[in-house]
Amino acid sequence: MVEATRASVVGRERESEVVAAALAAGRNLLLEGPPGTGKTTLLRALAAGAGVGLVLVEGNAELTPARLVGHHDPSRVLTEDYRPDNFVPGPLCRAMTEGSLLYVEELNRVPEETLNVLLGVLSEREMHIPRYGVVPAAATFRLVAAMNPYDAVGTARVSPALYDRSCRVALGYQDEDIEAAIVARMAPGPANLVSRSVRAVRMTREHPDLRIGSSVRGAIDIVLVASELAAVRGEAALSERTGLDAARTALSGKVTVQEGCPRSVDEIIEEIWGKADPGKR
Ligand SMILES: Nc1ncnc2c1ncn2[C@@H]1O[C@H](COP(=O)(O)OP(=O)(O)O)[C@@H](O)[C@H]1O
Ligand SMILES: [Mg+2]
Repeated sequence: MVEATRASVVGRERESEVVAAALAAGRNLLLEGPPGTGKTTLLRALAAGAGVGLVLVEGNAELTPARLVGHHDPSRVLTEDYRPDNFVPGPLCRAMTEGSLLYVEELNRVPEETLNVLLGVLSEREMHIPRYGVVPAAATFRLVAAMNPYDAVGTARVSPALYDRSCRVALGYQDEDIEAAIVARMAPGPANLVSRSVRAVRMTREHPDLRIGSSVRGAIDIVLVASELAAVRGEAALSERTGLDAARTALSGKVTVQEGCPRSVDEIIEEIWGKADPGKR
C-alpha cells in the first residue's frame, strides 16, 4: 500500500506509512494541514494502492445532512410516496455500503448538524435513515477528514468527540528540494525557473506583509503560465518581464496581504520575485 504511493507522491514517506497504518488498524483519520500540502494526493494514492474505493466530498456550508446521507427523490415521492427504492444514496451512504473511504475536505466548513451525523456513524458504524432503513458500514468503511488549521472561514468547531474517535496526522509544507521535485513533475520547465518559483512561494509564507502565503500550487502555476506567456510573446528565452507577469498572475489571488498594510499585492510579489532570482544571491 505504501510502495504504491511512491509513483505519485513525492516525499511524505513517514506520513504515507502512518496514514496507511492507521487505516489498516481500522481507525478514522483527521489530516491537518494548509491547502496544497498534498493531503488529497496522498490519500488518493493510498486508496488506489490498497484497492479501496474513495468517495470524495467537498466540505462547505451547503453540505447538509440530506446531501451527505442521501434523500428521497421528491418527484417520485409525490406519485409513489416514500419507498426504499426512491431513495437516492448520498456519498456517506455509498461509502458505508461499498466499504470505501469517505474523504471530506475542509471539514471545518461543514454545518454542525452534518458533523453530528458523521459522529453518529463513527460511534455506531450504522445509520438509521427514516423511511429507508438501517445502513450498516461495511468492514473497510473509514472516515478521513481534511482540515486547514488556519482556516478562519470555518464555522463549525470540530468537537472533542470527533477528535476522540479519530487519529490525527499533521502535514506541513515540505522542504525546498521536495517542493522543487513536485513542481518539476507537475510543470516541466527550465530548472532555474522551477527553483526560482519554489523560492518565491516559500518567501510568501514568511513575508511580514502577507498574512497567508502560497502553497506549492503557486509555483506550479508560475512555471506553467511563464512557459505559455513566453510562447505568446515569441521569446526564445524567458524574459524578466514575462517571469514577473507569470508570478503576479499565479500568486496575486493565492496570497493575502496583512490588514493595514499600505502596499499592494502586486508590489509585494514584485519584491519577492526579484529577491527569488538565484542570480541575486
Ligand atoms: N507530496 C506531493 N507529491 C506529489 N504532488 C504533490 C505533493 N504535494 C503537493 N502536490 C501537488 O500539489 C498540488 C496540491 O496537492 P493536493 O494533494 O491537492 O493538496 P491538498 O489536498 O492538501 O490541498 C497538486 O497538484 C499535487 O499534485
Ligand atoms: Mg485537497
